[in-house]
Amino acid sequence: MTNSSRDMASLLEVDRLSVDYRLKGISLRAIDDVSFALRAGEAVALVGESGSGKTTTAMAIAGLLSPNARVSQGEVRYRGQRLPIDDDAAMRPHRWSETSVVFQGAMNALNPVHRIIKQIAEPCMLKLGMPKADAIGRARELLELVGIPADRGAAYPHELSGGMRQRVMIAMALACRPSIIIGDEPTTALDVITQAQILKLLAELRSRLNLALILITHDLSVVAETCDRVMIMYAGRIVEDGTVAEIFAKPKHPYTRLLIDSIPNPENGKKMIRPIPGDPPNLRSRPAGCAFHPRCPSAMGVCSTEVPVLDKFGRGRVACHLHRSSQEDKVAAHD
Ligand SMILES: Nc1ncnc2c1ncn2[C@@H]1O[C@H](COP(=O)(O)OP(=O)(O)OP(=O)(O)O)[C@@H](O)[C@H]1O
Ligand code: SF4
Ligand SMILES: [Mg+2]
Repeated sequence: MTNSSRDMASLLEVDRLSVDYRLKGISLRAIDDVSFALRAGEAVALVGESGSGKTTTAMAIAGLLSPNARVSQGEVRYRGQRLPIDDDAAMRPHRWSETSVVFQGAMNALNPVHRIIKQIAEPCMLKLGMPKADAIGRARELLELVGIPADRGAAYPHELSGGMRQRVMIAMALACRPSIIIGDEPTTALDVITQAQILKLLAELRSRLNLALILITHDLSVVAETCDRVMIMYAGRIVEDGTVAEIFAKPKHPYTRLLIDSIPNPENGKKMIRPIPGDPPNLRSRPAGCAFHPRCPSAMGVCSTEVPVLDKFGRGRVACHLHRSSQEDKVAAHD
């Protein structure tokens, strides 16, 4: 791990993590040499196009990798202790009590034939060993915490709106008092107003419970209000990491610039998302060198042969040959 990402006060450290998926006898690398640290109470967004490895990173941290995944390099530490992320049984005591995940599409995750109060009480009984009456009491408190009147606990999932169901998922994620919540596209299936309400709820819970938050999204425009820091992923690697203010005011990586340019901005007449030309690579055909080079407007000769290292740059990190330390003067001129 680089010095910039190591922090003695870190709650979570992801250290040079690589994960491969095995498909029909072939091993394909989904995330490659991913390193970052998260402090207690910090909110970080993980942003990138589809297939860039955001969910794989989240699942690795939470110990929820699919059976065909293999951790081929690196480790994850929680409060300095290495987590057994590739051992399902050994990971059981850690899951949901340290890091909890809120997925998109709450309807699929909730059991349609059980009342929601029962579904929230269940992890309290199973994980915290609470007697049923206490677990129901805790589930009522959790419902109130996420803005649902406790008496609505008698409802079945189909009787609630999409936003309410996502609030139930957040209540379940909080049941075992984790210190990290990962929201994997938690608002994607919701309308714009409900999206804003759920993001506001996550921000409130974060400050009330001192939760650290990893917010996974395709959509850079949602992170400004919710997060302190942004990490940009491309083809399984982190390519830029910086504060929200730095990333929006002075993006270093050409991909980050294009992501920001793609955000609609009615103030300057840009009403529609402007997609980045070209397609992200799939796992079988990752370009050599910088994986972004076939789409990069600033690509140089070296870009198709050498993988750029994620180096400290200013207060953040960037992986781009334009920003190698030896070239900082050239970059200053470029900016
Ligand atoms: N269980 C699996 N088996 C094989 N390949 C997988 C598996 N899960 C994910 N992948 C592949 O790994 C790569 C990274 O997937 P991942 O789901 O982490 O991306 P993502 O950034 O979360 O994308 P999205 O925005 O679409 O959710 C993709 O190419 C995906 O097809
Ligand atoms: S390393 Fe080269 S191709 Fe990759 S983002 Fe930087 S300039 Fe573009
Ligand atoms: Mg995903």
